[in-house]
Amino acid sequence: MNKKLKNILLIIVACSFTLSACSKTKESANELGLKDVLGNKFLIGTAVNLDQINGRDALGLAVIKKHFNAIVAENCMKSMYLQPKEGQFFFDDADRFVNFGEQNNLVMTGHCLIWHSQAPAWFFTDKNGKDVSRDTLIQRMKDHITTVVSRYKGRIKGWDVVNEAIMDDGSWRPSKFYKIIGEDFIKLAFQFAHEADPDAELYYNDYSMAKEGRRQAVVNLVKSLKEQGVRIDAVGMQGHVTMDYPNVDDFEKSLLAFSETGVKVMITELDLTVLPSPRRDVGADVAASFEYQKEINPYTDGLPEEVQAAWEKRYLDFFTLFLKHSDKISRVTLWGVSDKNSWRNNWPVRGRTDYPLLFDRNYQAKPIVQMIINKAKI
Ligand code: XIL
Repeated sequence: MNKKLKNILLIIVACSFTLSACSKTKESANELGLKDVLGNKFLIGTAVNLDQINGRDALGLAVIKKHFNAIVAENCMKSMYLQPKEGQFFFDDADRFVNFGEQNNLVMTGHCLIWHSQAPAWFFTDKNGKDVSRDTLIQRMKDHITTVVSRYKGRIKGWDVVNEAIMDDGSWRPSKFYKIIGEDFIKLAFQFAHEADPDAELYYNDYSMAKEGRRQAVVNLVKSLKEQGVRIDAVGMQGHVTMDYPNVDDFEKSLLAFSETGVKVMITELDLTVLPSPRRDVGADVAASFEYQKEINPYTDGLPEEVQAAWEKRYLDFFTLFLKHSDKISRVTLWGVSDKNSWRNNWPVRGRTDYPLLFDRNYQAKPIVQMIINKAKI
């Protein structure tokens, strides 16, 4: 080989090295997080669990910081944890949650002030185990809400003030709150929260929101609160969806109906189970529980390709809907980071292997993440 040819070859080799190094740098710089592309449309959030709040789940924390700009505590701000005994509050985990959010510039939602579930039994009973009077329950609600909301005043952007007060058919849920106080408990809860932090946003949150009965009842509730001059900023559609419920059109109908009342809509607890439902209409009732059977736990070794493809398509259908209505939606929150710690593995049947979230059991982004990013970039 003559010297000239050798030099040309050397230059070619050097150039291709530089080019591939450049494209590598470009590629990693291009690895966008969900928040980088969705951030100008709506907040994109996740629920965080105790391992994350207490710093034990480093991989989960890395995903949160890269992909999300909003968080909500999966459990530690529920009344049974915040006030396990009357007047005895436990704030350690919630404080850590709020500090973590502030340190990482994450918009925080408080979940949830008044909910019939994960509430301590003492809340509703007297010394003899009998139901308390209406006045006592109102006072307890007020004390709880005031103490919790004031503690995080100016730090939590908004509160799920009341969670799940309405049934599928639109009737009031016969919870202790409803039975002892009557439907006014909702208005009172919103008023107490507003008094404690006048700048905080206030939300009503529920599941199976695509059901016609609940849709109409929520619309009526929002209208009635507004007519009474009570602050309400958004309706939260939980979004614990399955492969066959709800259909996207019904979900859209509700989204539009809520938006038309003049509030924002939030998708607050999104996860898409791929597992067969033991009963079709189980919604997201945390009290529902069914016996384990091998046949309803079919994917312990991973998802077959066609199942994964159907799951991706359905996730993308929902995100396409959210993007279409991004002017009406202020936040979309996933109910957890990775499949490994999704509540869906244990609800409504304990001990199954589910795949409902955007990150797999090793905290790797599933292909759906890139699909959502591509969709959002169009
Ligand atoms: C769930 C949590 O994810 C579980 O860890 C817990 O055991 C039960 O509650 N609707 C809600 C959420 O509003 O608070 C629930 O979270 C899921 C259904």
